[in-house]
Amino acid sequence: MTSLSIMGVGKVGAEVAYLSTVTQIADTINIYDSVPSLLTAQKLDLLHTGIDINLNTDPEMLTESDIIVFSAGMPRTPDIKTRADLLESNLPVAREFCRMIKNYDGIVITITNPMDANNYFIQKESGIKREKCIGFGGQLDLARLKYFLSKRGYDTKGAWVMGEHGEHQVPVFSGMKEEVPENIRNEILLEMRGASMPVIKGKGGTVFGPAYNVFSLIKAIINDENKLLPCSCVLRGEYNTEGCSICVPVRVGRNGISEIIECHLDSWEEEKFSCAASHLKDLCRRV
Ligand SMILES: NC(=O)c1ccc[n+]([C@@H]2O[C@H](COP(=O)([O-])OP(=O)(O)OC[C@H]3O[C@@H](n4cnc5c(N)ncnc54)[C@H](O)[C@@H]3O)[C@@H](O)[C@H]2O)c1
Repeated sequence: MTSLSIMGVGKVGAEVAYLSTVTQIADTINIYDSVPSLLTAQKLDLLHTGIDINLNTDPEMLTESDIIVFSAGMPRTPDIKTRADLLESNLPVAREFCRMIKNYDGIVITITNPMDANNYFIQKESGIKREKCIGFGGQLDLARLKYFLSKRGYDTKGAWVMGEHGEHQVPVFSGMKEEVPENIRNEILLEMRGASMPVIKGKGGTVFGPAYNVFSLIKAIINDENKLLPCSCVLRGEYNTEGCSICVPVRVGRNGISEIIECHLDSWEEEKFSCAASHLKDLCRRV
């Protein structure tokens, strides 16, 4: 029996709820949002699929879940240039979330931006084991990296992503069969940084990309897949880093993160990762 909760059912949270409903991945789905009219509308819309699901909207049920997706808070607009700029608006939401999940010891998937800092804060504030606090964003960044590589005719096998889910994301090319020259690396890095803005400008926010990949993460947990995924987690010395949550390769299964993999980086990647880590440490010091 699996119970899944989603806190914040705006664009991304609602799409995750929809995918989870139509695939019947969980026995119980619990959705919550601070806007009652939106919450009711999302509940009715999900029920009108005609799928027989056990759907609740009671915030008390958050702590009874195996997994909680935290997707509440402000998204970027064309005027909000970086995800880090959302810290002041969304930290109070993360704080309220922690109050709501007191004594919870299941898995939390953090989506709300700035995702790495929020994941760090939630782990610290809630006291939930770091293995159970999974920051989502790397899978989306990896999908985008693969898109930009394919467009240039590269075989994407072995491509990877680390670093911040933000301006300091780190595409990892050194595991690929074909060498990617530095000028192309830099070009792709810029494209990755700007990848979501045309979607935000055109339709108000990213939905399909994040929701599909969050759903894959939920599936990896529920089905105990022990899947290798790029996720943000609180480091305690791995990659010579501590004091932040940052995207690294991890194995994910029923109990959350079962292993943090320390992979080889070349000098270009190492330099970018070290910048990402010091940027995130600064951001995490503020939470
Ligand atoms: N990590 C990623 O890859 C990724 C991808 C897309 C979006 N995001 C982030 O996810 C968050 C949500 O994005 P969105 O596009 O769904 O935004 P949205 O505005 O459509 O939805 C956010 C929802 O949160 C609700 N909310 C706000 N404060 C709340 C509170 N205190 N309690 C309960 N609900 C509350 C709002 O009512 C709203 O329905 C944003 O911070 C966005 O930047 C992250």
